[in-house]
Amino acid sequence: MRSRDFAPAGESLGVTRAQHLIEQLLRLSRQESAAPAASAEPVDVAALLRESLGQLMVVADRRRIDVGFDGTVTPVVSAPAAELRSVFDNLIDNALRHAPEGGVVDVRLHEVQGQPVVDVVDNGPGIPQEFMARVFDRFFRVPGTSAGGSGLGLAIARTAALRHGLRIALSNRSEQEEGGTGLIARVYLPA
Ligand SMILES: Nc1ncnc2c1ncn2[C@@H]1O[C@H](COP(=O)(O)OP(=O)(O)OP(=O)(O)O)[C@@H](O)[C@H]1O
Ligand SMILES: [Mg+2]
Repeated sequence: MRSRDFAPAGESLGVTRAQHLIEQLLRLSRQESAAPAASAEPVDVAALLRESLGQLMVVADRRRIDVGFDGTVTPVVSAPAAELRSVFDNLIDNALRHAPEGGVVDVRLHEVQGQPVVDVVDNGPGIPQEFMARVFDRFFRVPGTSAGGSGLGLAIARTAALRHGLRIALSNRSEQEEGGTGLIARVYLPA
């Protein structure tokens, strides 16, 4: 499934830089608040990914990114849907912003050694090995990063993932069998 299969997001969903920063800060403060966590519910991960992609299509369209979704399994994860969204929204947002203009982003839901995983793959520059651990720190951005951002996304995503038994692993395509450059953000879902 490619970009044209997603419902076009209206301008009201437009993600301006200021809106994006406010959204990130709200997500961070919700994570930090002492309020009891939202209750877990069974979440259809394929449907959640489609929603996330639909909402981020405005970013994809603006940058003419060719977005693909491929799901070969249909896992259900028990967690608050909003927290799962904050994991995938941030990874997909990163792929869309760091891919070159007119680039390609693929989201793949499949199984690796019997465990369901979500791969978010782009064709941007990837992340230099020496910064791989630090990109999860709040406000850290790889020096020279051209795309705008606040440096909060991966910190938010990792906190939400850990809370609900998911694990995020980043690797560069050039270090895998896949050719070309780009980042592979893999999320291991609870078995
Ligand atoms: N897909 C990617 N390709 C290349 N670099 C990436 C990618 N994802 C993250 N990075 C690098 O990691 C840094 C931290 O990412 P993170 O999502 O935490 O912050 P951000 O995207 O800069 O800002 P925010 O998500 O808060 O808007 C980015 O600034 C960028 O340098
Ligand atoms: Mg980000």
